[in-house]
This record gives sequence, structure tokens and C-alpha cells, in this order.
Amino acid sequence: MSIISNCTATVINEAAASLIRGNLVSFPTETVYGLGADATNEKAVARIYEVKGRPTDHPLIVHISSMELLNEWASEIPEYAIKLARAFWPGPMTLVLPRTSIAKDFITGNQDTVAIRVPSHTLANQLLKEFESLGGYGIAAPSANRFGKVSPTNSEAVEEEIGKLLLENDQILDGGSSQIGIESTIIDCTKNMPVILRPGYITSEMIESFLSLDLEKFDSASNKVIAPGLLEAHYSPNANVILHGVPQPGDGFIALADIPTPIGAVRLASPKDNNEYAYELYNALRLSDRKEIKTVHVIPPVQQGVGVAINNRLIKSAQKEII
Ligand code: TXA
Ligand code: MG
Repeated sequence: MSIISNCTATVINEAAASLIRGNLVSFPTETVYGLGADATNEKAVARIYEVKGRPTDHPLIVHISSMELLNEWASEIPEYAIKLARAFWPGPMTLVLPRTSIAKDFITGNQDTVAIRVPSHTLANQLLKEFESLGGYGIAAPSANRFGKVSPTNSEAVEEEIGKLLLENDQILDGGSSQIGIESTIIDCTKNMPVILRPGYITSEMIESFLSLDLEKFDSASNKVIAPGLLEAHYSPNANVILHGVPQPGDGFIALADIPTPIGAVRLASPKDNNEYAYELYNALRLSDRKEIKTVHVIPPVQQGVGVAINNRLIKSAQKEII
């Protein structure tokens, strides 16, 4: 495995060619780092599942360089999905659409839909363009972390998560820190109306005002601890994550900057607004592991704008094992 920090055009060409040959390439996107493979290569995609330790019925997002390629993957595209694509691509949004025959069961987890995203990160976009110019159709890329763990937002975090599991010809492309810091908004576009499946930086307010309609509210609270264990634990550091608790001395603490650090607690992040909160959250959770902190207390932001997505990740992060 090699980590490449000076990603010149030659490096990107070589990485695209390596993907075509069936190797894995981890690359930056504006949300988090992805672990990429040729989305039409069953063996390469199987390696993604192996490296992540992810159950094979969890489908993958296919990344393409522009919406022109959408027809290759999606068989029916409602008018509102085209509008969303025009408005928010390239960017942190994933559309779930009925699949074409190119989207095989090994990508979709046997579902008849496929998730598609056009990332805006320059390096990701160049890699996709190069890959497509070599005959590729799309790069499957989940977040480059082990299943259930915290998504990586820089190349060091990718190395920490999966470095040892990559093979000699696999690569990690370093493109600095992911600017947004949490995963894309996933929107189900198979019904009359769009439905948010995973909240993200593109908020329901943005979608509503753009399409002039009311969406069903995404409600993280509805999956709350009503039935403990039913919720998948995810985005979890080694530490126990507790929301709204009172830290003991030595515990980690994450909250907006205007909330003071309780006596004895170890401040892991002090974001000044919700965008900074999203940007810093995963690094702060990772920092707790590096400091071998056992318990991290978090004061979540209000459920507004990107605050909805942050709360969604925090609630899952605070879930323990499935009982
Ligand atoms: O920001 C992101 O979306 C990042 C970057 C790398 O693009 N990727 C990412 O992928 O977060 P992943 O695999 O960690 O999360 C993808 C989510 C999974 O929860 C998966 O179940 C859902 O997308 N998904 C994929 N295909 C789907 C489909 N056909 N229907 C419903 N959900 C789908
Ligand atoms: Mg993930």
C-alpha cells in the first residue's frame, strides 16, 4: 500500500488505471474519505467489504463525474431528482434511484435501487474523469473506515482505520481534510416525493425551498433509545459516547464553543457553529481514542440545518452493541 500526498495529474492517471486493474484506491471527497473500487468489478468490490468488515447486504454508493452518466446507472429518473441533481451536484448529496442492469446485486445489496453521487472535491472529480476516460462507469466508495467506526476525514485517519488491511498495489490519495466532515445527504427518489434517508449538509430546508414542497421531517429522535439495541451502533470510537451527561474528571467533552468545559474534563472540540461542528466532530472522536479516553460527553447542537445530521450521527455514535 502506498500513501501519496503530491497528487499530480500523473498520480491521478495511475490511480485510475490501478482501479481499472481491480485494485483499491482511497480518495478524499468533500464529505469524508472513500474506499474506492471499480463498481462493475465484482472481485474488487468484494475486497471493499472484506477490508471494511461490512455485511454484504449493506449497499454501496456509486460515484460518477457528472450527471451525464446518471442514465448508465438509473433506469427511471423523476423530474424532481433531475432538479436536485442540477442544483446540488457536484456536491454532498446521494440519490437513490431504480437501477439499470449495470448496477449488479454486489453493489446494491440485492435491491432494485442504486445510490449515486457526484462529489465536488477536485481530486475525486479528476480521478472519476480519468477513470471514465479509461472506460470505467463509476467508482463504488463507502467511507474508508472499519464497519461501525468513525468515518475518516483525512488520509492519516484512513491509514489508522484500514492501512494494515490494504494490499501492496492499493493506494491512499491524500487531499487534505474533507471540508464538510460528515457523510452526504441520501435521498430516496423512487417515490412521488423525495424522502431523506440520511441527513447531511444538504438539509431538508434547502431541498424544500428549492423544490417548493414540504418533505416528511427526518426525525433522528424517532429512532431514539425507545427500543435499545434496535438501532445500529455506528460512527463509534472506542470510548463510550454519552449525550447530555455530566462529565467526570478525565472524561472527554465536545460542545459548541460558548459552552464552558466542566471542571476536569478534557476538551476535544469547541466548534463555533454547526458547520465547524460537522467539520471537527469525527476528528474529535478519533482524538478521544488516541488519548485513550474511556468516556466522551457530548452536548449536541440544536436540530436545525446541518444540526439534524450531526444529531443523527451522535445518536448512533452513542448506541452500544446491538443486543
Ligand atoms: O459522503 C458519503 O456519502 C461518503 C463518501 C465517500 O461519498 N460515502 C458513504 O458511503 O458514506 P457509506 O457506504 O459509508 O454509506 C452509504 C449509505 C449506507 O448506509 C447504505 O446503506 C446507503 O448509503 N445506501 C447505499 N445504496 C443504497 C440504496 N440502494 N438504497 C438505500 N440506501 C443505500
Ligand atoms: Mg460509512
